[in-house]
Amino acid sequence: MAHIDIEVLQVPSSLEAPGAADFMAVAELLNAQQQEFWGNNDFYGPPQAQLAGRRSTPTRRRELLAARVGGSIVGVAQMNSPLTDNLHSATVNVVVSPAARRSGVGTRLYAAAEHLAAAGNRRLLLAETDHLLAGDAVSGAGPASFIPDDAAAAFAAALGFRLELVDRVSRLDLADNDAGQATLQQAASAAGAGYELLFWQGACPDHLVDAYAQLRQKMSTDAPLGGMDLAEEAWDGARVREAEGKARDMDAEVLVAAVRHVASGELAGHTVLEVFRNNPAVVFQDDTLVLGSHRGNRLGMLLKAANLVQLRQAIPEARRVYTWNAEENRYMLSINEQLGFRAVGYSGEWQKELSAG
Ligand SMILES: CC(C)(COP(=O)(O)OP(=O)(O)OC[C@H]1O[C@@H](n2cnc3c(N)ncnc32)[C@H](O)[C@@H]1OP(=O)(O)O)[C@@H](O)C(=O)NCCC(=O)NCCS
Repeated sequence: MAHIDIEVLQVPSSLEAPGAADFMAVAELLNAQQQEFWGNNDFYGPPQAQLAGRRSTPTRRRELLAARVGGSIVGVAQMNSPLTDNLHSATVNVVVSPAARRSGVGTRLYAAAEHLAAAGNRRLLLAETDHLLAGDAVSGAGPASFIPDDAAAAFAAALGFRLELVDRVSRLDLADNDAGQATLQQAASAAGAGYELLFWQGACPDHLVDAYAQLRQKMSTDAPLGGMDLAEEAWDGARVREAEGKARDMDAEVLVAAVRHVASGELAGHTVLEVFRNNPAVVFQDDTLVLGSHRGNRLGMLLKAANLVQLRQAIPEARRVYTWNAEENRYMLSINEQLGFRAVGYSGEWQKELSAG
């Protein structure tokens, strides 16, 4: 392969600004990879939304590295570094266009990313690999057996990453499903009158924002982390507003269902769905959490079923919902299976300790 140049790309202020052509090339490369992987456009991100999503914020520094061969961008590394918690870590995602693969571009991009991470005093790098469903795991072989030895896994392993957690990617097809209607009634009577549901779309009501921030913070460590060396995230009302602003800038609709314990007034749990306006057929499940002291009351099912009903009313064009759950998260998986979610793939979460010096 010809000479490979690696460079840091600045995120342009708009798609018309200087440097925007390079950013457009990166956005196209990432979209092409999603299309290649899934075989559909469910994960297509309009360049405008990618631009809004790649900006740094007070809680995350976002950096882009591009690999150029003969003037064309043939690969990209995206890096995210948390700025208010987990200051020891950063995440990296490397994508190389098909024609340029297996000639060292990925390795060069990764080396530059590792260099940036070390320069920012990060000692832990995290990465994710995606894999389509490839039959059932060998019984008793553990979650790792769901991850095939494909290019992504081989690449991560060759760079020294260790697989720490396996997520099941599941999809709910809303067309052949009553989307929570029946289960909502059952869960509501099991939970009883001691709990009440609350809903919002877009912005959390001011009087709930601090309580909601506490739920978001708890979510960061209550979902299984496997062997990932991550600490609880730091959330406050300002961070909730930052996340809401980012969703708005990305033209995404966010639907939240929360449940309140009537006697104490405490928020006991929440669940979040996200829909990008450019493709309202596709919905992404974000957090779902019930606080430890309120578990065992069917609140997880109540929240998820209620938010699916809210989704149907708010966005009638919605057709399918994607969700990611740790393969060891039996409670969440069983709720999702009852709602009609079916596995479509797996995603591996990997980490690498950078050696000092
Ligand atoms: C994974 C990916 C980034 C690799 O990029 P690349 O430029 O082809 O990687 P390199 O040429 O630097 O390969 C480095 C090593 O990874 C491993 N590897 C990469 N592709 C492989 C494949 N198809 N089969 C087996 N091993 C592979 C090999 O050990 C390789 O070293 P070698 O060629 O000396 O044997 C690329 O295939 C890609 O963009 N895939 C889609 C996105 C993705 O899965 N990203 C990974 C996120 S961690």
